[in-house]
Amino acid sequence: MNVEEKISQLTEEIKRLKQERNALILAHVYQRPEVQEVADIFGDSLELSRRAAATDADVIIFCGVHFMAESAAILSPDKIVLLPEENAGCPMADMVTAEELRAKKREMPGAVVVAYVNTSAEVKAESDICCTSANAVKIVQSIPEDKPIIFIPDKNLGSYVANKTGRAMTLWEGWCNTHDWVTPEEVLKAKEEHPDALVLIHPECRPEVVALADYVSSTTGLIRYAKESDAKEFIIGTEAGIMHQLYKQCPGKNFYLATRRLVCPNMKATTLDKVKQALETMQPQITVPPDIREKALASLEKMLAIK
Ligand code: 13P
Ligand code: SF4
Repeated sequence: MNVEEKISQLTEEIKRLKQERNALILAHVYQRPEVQEVADIFGDSLELSRRAAATDADVIIFCGVHFMAESAAILSPDKIVLLPEENAGCPMADMVTAEELRAKKREMPGAVVVAYVNTSAEVKAESDICCTSANAVKIVQSIPEDKPIIFIPDKNLGSYVANKTGRAMTLWEGWCNTHDWVTPEEVLKAKEEHPDALVLIHPECRPEVVALADYVSSTTGLIRYAKESDAKEFIIGTEAGIMHQLYKQCPGKNFYLATRRLVCPNMKATTLDKVKQALETMQPQITVPPDIREKALASLEKMLAIK
């Protein structure tokens, strides 16, 4: 059996199992193309959180990384949430622990903690409000001007939001290993090779890379922009998985990854085989202890209430 035949066989098996289990498959756009294709819903972290909160399926299969499945478990405690590859974590989320955050809060009493969703449930439980890259500016704007803000854990997203809102914020020393790798030199080189291309950058990139962008947004925002733009060529500063949707949704346009290193190994750890296994065994399940869940839910719900 060749690779295409194997993919199509697994896809059929997953579709059958999904119906039997009344399961909903959510996939982040950084997932492998064949995993995005088998999903009922694909999108950025914000869309996926909203859909996880609204579904009436019995089972959620989260094709993404641990914090995403954990958010789904927080938002839908009565559902079974499966993360097909249980070792798919997010190194950035591991850069802040609840204990470290408690210590920072003691240093800055009265400060509002804004937590990027790329954090553990324990850290969300210690935070006041969550945000994603799609709504971070709005979330920070919703906080009274006289309140100091601690923004965790992504210093790059934090610095982008601080710039956009004019708010001084205390930024955590965290970053995404994948996006922080991109250098301004690489973007400039790509511009030299493709002088007509617009530069689309995710705000997890460094400020000096963001400064070179024609447009900065979450993954869904970047896809929407590429679709609606009259331009025909784009340099892409976010994880390689997005290329699948860009080519699919923007026929006749060309996309160049700013650097070949824009690959998140954790996002690539989920395979169709693992999705099928998860549906067969109903493992690995992601759960959150009730006391942590309740507090983390408050931070997520505050975020979701801001439209
Ligand atoms: P979003 O555009 O979905 O916020 O993606 C950021 C990310 O890195 C998810 O891990
Ligand atoms: Fe985490 Fe970056 Fe991978 Fe997203 S792309 S999961 S932020 S390491």
